Amino acid sequence: MSQPNADKDPEFAVEIEGLAKVYGSSNKQTPKHALKDVNLKIRRGSFFGLLGPNGAGKSTLINILAGLVNRSGGTAKIWGHDIDTDMRAARRSIGVVPQELNIDPFFTPRELLDLQAGLFGVPQSERQTQEVLDAVGLGDKADAYTRSLSGGMRRRLLVGKAMVHRPPVLVLDEPSAGVDVDLRRQLWTHVKRMNEAGTTVLLTTHYLEEAEAMCDEIAIINHGRIIACEPTAEMLSRLDARELRVDLAKPANEIPKSLNKYNPVLIQPDCLTLSFAPSKTPARKVLADIEAAGLEVRDFATTESDLEDIFIRLTHDDAEDDADDAA
Ligand SMILES: Nc1ncnc2c1ncn2[C@@H]1O[C@H](COP(=O)(O)OP(=O)(O)O)[C@@H](O)[C@H]1O
Ligand SMILES: [Mg+2]
Repeated sequence: MSQPNADKDPEFAVEIEGLAKVYGSSNKQTPKHALKDVNLKIRRGSFFGLLGPNGAGKSTLINILAGLVNRSGGTAKIWGHDIDTDMRAARRSIGVVPQELNIDPFFTPRELLDLQAGLFGVPQSERQTQEVLDAVGLGDKADAYTRSLSGGMRRRLLVGKAMVHRPPVLVLDEPSAGVDVDLRRQLWTHVKRMNEAGTTVLLTTHYLEEAEAMCDEIAIINHGRIIACEPTAEMLSRLDARELRVDLAKPANEIPKSLNKYNPVLIQPDCLTLSFAPSKTPARKVLADIEAAGLEVRDFATTESDLEDIFIRLTHDDAEDDADDAA
C-alpha cells in the first residue's frame, strides 16, 4: 500500500489550481460562489491548516478532494493523481474525517473499520483493524457499541475509519467542533504521531489557536478565496502583537522605567496596558517584570490576536466582497 517512497513520492501531497465551486448554478436559486480561483500546494509530510470562518468554503474544498462535491472549475491532484482522470488512485490516496459525526450507532468500532476496509478493497490479510483502533486510542473499545462512545471517541473512530486504507494524506474537517479539551488533546496527540510517521495532514478549523499550535503551514480562506498562505511562523509574525491589561492592587503614580520596553500606558491610576510580542516574550514574563518593578498585580487580561484581526489586516486593501454572488 502507500508506503513512503522517496523516489516516487510527489513533492506536493495536494495540488489545487484555479479551483472554483458555484452552488445552485443549475437551478433557480441565486448562485453561491463558494470557491473562487483557489490555488493551493500542500507539501508532502506537512501539517497544513486551512483556516477560515464559517461559510468560507473549507468543507466545500475538502469535499471536492474527497469526491463528494463536484467542482465547477479548476484542477486538483492528490498525491499526484488528478481527481478526474485518475480518480481511483486519488481516492485511495486520501482519508477524510468529515465535519459531521455520522456513525451508525449499532456497529462496533471493529465492525465499522472492517466495513470501511472492505469498501476500499483492503484484503483481509492486510487489514490492521486492531492496530488502527490502538492508534486512535480505542483498542479497548473495539467491541463496544458505538452508541456508548463519547463524542471525542467517536471523532477518533472517524479518524481511524479514514485511515484503514492507509492513505498518505489525512484530512480533518473541523475536528474540534463539539470535542472537549481533554479529548481534543488526545486526538491531536494521535494525529501528530501520524504526521511524524509521514502522513500529510490537512486540517480545517476556524480556531486560530488550534492552527497555530498544530500546523507548520497555514492558508487563510475567506469568502471562497485564499487570502494568505505561508509558514505558521511567518503568519504569526504578522500578528505578533498582544496587549496585556493589568489592574494594580495599589494605584501607581508613575510607571517604572524598566517597563518602558512594553510601551506601557497608565489608563487609570490602577490600570496599565502593555504591548508585547508573544513569540519573543510570553505573557507570564511580562507579568513577572511588572511585579519585579514593584507593582502588585490584582488582575490581568490579554487581548488575543484572533482571526478577526488577521482578516481585518489582510482584507484591509481588499475591497472585494460577495458582490459577484449577487450579480
Ligand atoms: N449544498 C450547498 N448548496 C448551496 N450552498 C452551499 C452548499 N454547501 C455550502 N454552501 C454555501 O457555500 C459556502 C461555503 O460553505 P462551506 O464550504 O460549508 O464553508 P465552511 O466549511 O468554511 O464553513 C457557504 O456560504 C455555504 O452556505
Ligand atoms: Mg465546514
